[in-house]
Amino acid sequence: MRCELAGQSFGMPSPKVRIYNDYDYFTVRKLFIYLVKEHANTAFIHLLQKSYVCSPLLVVLLLPVVQVLPPVATTLTLAVILVWTWFGIRYMFLCDARLILSDDLLNIKAYYMNRDGYRFWVGESEGKFAGMMGIIPLSGPDGENHMEIRRLMVCRIHRRKGIAKALCKTAIDFARKRGCRAVIAQATSAQPIAHKCLEKLGFTQTRTFQQPGTWREFLGLTTTIYQYTIPQRR
Ligand SMILES: CC(C)(COP(=O)(O)OP(=O)(O)OC[C@H]1O[C@@H](n2cnc3c(N)ncnc32)[C@H](O)[C@@H]1OP(=O)(O)O)[C@@H](O)C(=O)NCCC(=O)NCCS
Repeated sequence: MRCELAGQSFGMPSPKVRIYNDYDYFTVRKLFIYLVKEHANTAFIHLLQKSYVCSPLLVVLLLPVVQVLPPVATTLTLAVILVWTWFGIRYMFLCDARLILSDDLLNIKAYYMNRDGYRFWVGESEGKFAGMMGIIPLSGPDGENHMEIRRLMVCRIHRRKGIAKALCKTAIDFARKRGCRAVIAQATSAQPIAHKCLEKLGFTQTRTFQQPGTWREFLGLTTTIYQYTIPQRR
């Protein structure tokens, strides 16, 4: 299995990509939960920037000026609203995360490593676990073979070292060797760095959508689908 190690160098020190091993199990799940919470925090900030949220908050802030509420009561009201919203968002993200933890991240080996066309990799920096990524087969709009990148996540302290770049290149190589036409990835509007990263790697946006009637709609979160088209050999 070690022969599939794909050490790649993108600057100093060079990040390495290796296939997932059983001993990575708890680190993968821990990183996933940690980054779901990070995603919830950025979604919260994203929500505060929406006019339908910041306008009512500004109105509450102005209440002491028009002497409707004393400043202490206003501060407390705002604090309660913000904390309650933050907890609510975190709760919704963690509910979704629990579903994933009992789906593909429950038995990572069985889901990603023991099935043809599926794979899970770990990115390392200086020999330490630094990030992860999975890939699954997907059918394109005309039935052509595509693959989708999943759970692309890099630990905060190892970011900007080229780990995601190395992981994505490994995934593209994997898909190319299996004769796939494209690699797909998704990022939400609360993951601006992911957009930059995918675009830098040559992915292009294919569509952006919002799931109607979900809590994501309330948050104003959109999901963008990215595609990397694999050049075909003539
Ligand atoms: C998005 C993420 C995976 C990037 O990982 P990373 O290992 O730091 O990325 P890399 O170091 O390989 O950088 C690749 C490119 O992304 C862009 N990028 C990465 N971090 C950036 C930042 N903070 N600001 C601007 N651009 C950035 C750059 O274009 C970079 O290329 P360059 O260094 O040649 O300029 C990481 O930030 C992360 O885990 N975020 C949280 C989870 C997430 O958003 N997952 C993606 C779902 S698709």
